[in-house]
Amino acid sequence: MKVTIFGSGYVGLVTGTCFADAGNDVVCVDIDAERVAQLQRGEVPIYEPGLDEMLSFNQEEGRLRFTTNAAEGVHHGLFQFIAVGTPSDEDGSADLQHVLAVARTIGQHMDDYRVVVDKSTVPVGTADRVRAAVGEELAARGEQLEYDVVSNPEFLKEGAAIDDFVKPDRIIIGSDNPRTGELMKALYAPFNRSHDRLIAMDVRSAELTKYASNAMLATKISFMNELSNLAERLGADIEQVRVGMGSDPRIGYHFIYPGCGYGGSCFPKDVKALTHTAHEYGYQPELLEAVESVNARQKQVLVHRLHAHFGEDLGGRTFGLWGLAFKPNTDDMREAPSRVVMEALWEAGARVQAYDPEAMDEAERIYGNRQDLELCDNLYDAVEDADALIVCTEWQVFRSPDFERIRDALRQPVVFDGRNVYPPSMMEALGFTYYGMGRGE
Ligand code: UGA
Repeated sequence: MKVTIFGSGYVGLVTGTCFADAGNDVVCVDIDAERVAQLQRGEVPIYEPGLDEMLSFNQEEGRLRFTTNAAEGVHHGLFQFIAVGTPSDEDGSADLQHVLAVARTIGQHMDDYRVVVDKSTVPVGTADRVRAAVGEELAARGEQLEYDVVSNPEFLKEGAAIDDFVKPDRIIIGSDNPRTGELMKALYAPFNRSHDRLIAMDVRSAELTKYASNAMLATKISFMNELSNLAERLGADIEQVRVGMGSDPRIGYHFIYPGCGYGGSCFPKDVKALTHTAHEYGYQPELLEAVESVNARQKQVLVHRLHAHFGEDLGGRTFGLWGLAFKPNTDDMREAPSRVVMEALWEAGARVQAYDPEAMDEAERIYGNRQDLELCDNLYDAVEDADALIVCTEWQVFRSPDFERIRDALRQPVVFDGRNVYPPSMMEALGFTYYGMGRGE
């Protein structure tokens, strides 16, 4: 089948590459000429395990092409996926200018029936606006071509996106026309084999399903973070509580890990956008607002703890920080807890020696000109002569380091563990002063 994907960002690239890998003929369109040139050379501008190889392979096979030519893209695909960015506006609402610009482009160039698919995470009601934008452009050309607009939200996790795409938990198809539902089902057939994972529904419900899912997951995390702060004050250990709670299948073990807050490009943005939508419709979303404010507060917990240990003035202090990315297996630092911690440390006069297995280039891009940040080549350089070690992300490689080497390298053997990577008793036995999250100190 012929597929066009607008937007060669994270979602667009994974979607386009996976469709090509299933045998479809895919054209990806992006307005960023430099990015397109890079992709044409087979260079993938994002870090996602397995994507490089899959992309190059399908490009060589001639099933995956990149272009800046939007008209070519519109002529190519029966399916026109919109996978462009929807950044947060200052008020927290999703900025739809890129989505609607693509819709207008489709209306300007289409010459036959098209299925327009909203893949970007967009507020409820966006499909109606996309439909209207395409229609206006057609009317301006005096054309009366048929088209449908479908909501098909993505549920990809960074670091596991390919697997999530080819082995999805669910494929949500929001469509108000049964014919389009059938076409989408055929397109997704290669990823819908062992049992039917396709869930068809109306467009608005599909749009809300995406926000509802992310908001639920963010709620679980904020709930656990709230409980971890309480456990600490009560002399209980949240990690034992977590295991005890998760054994109830109605609660489950997933997404109940306490920590130094959730980050990334999705949860913070989507919770804010859903909150904004609620207000727009005259509803006060008290729980969603609390999820967001608990998370903002949680990102400060490590900072407060550092001050409680070292005092308010951190001038002359150096801290080793492990984990810059917002979670393991990505180089993405958007809304990462590490940034809140580092910025607070700098504010209080301290230096940071940081290490991350993948996010060093990204840190260089964001903070490269700072004198009070040293980006280190490995985990041990980051703790050399530092006053303490702070762990912000639970990368696998941080789990079993050479503790004696760390203890000897640090000026003082103090560890602030924002992800509960280490057992407190073991750390104490190794001679560290150890602070975890919600561990009953
Ligand atoms: C999230 C969702 O998990 C995906 O299903 C969704 O498709 C995606 O957003 C999206 O909307 O595009 P992602 O942001 O890549 O995926 O990362 P997650 O693995 O969900 O982690 C988000 C944050 O929550 C991370 O900072 C992580 O450290 C934190 N987290 C996660 C916790 O603090 N505790 C947990 O138990 C789980």
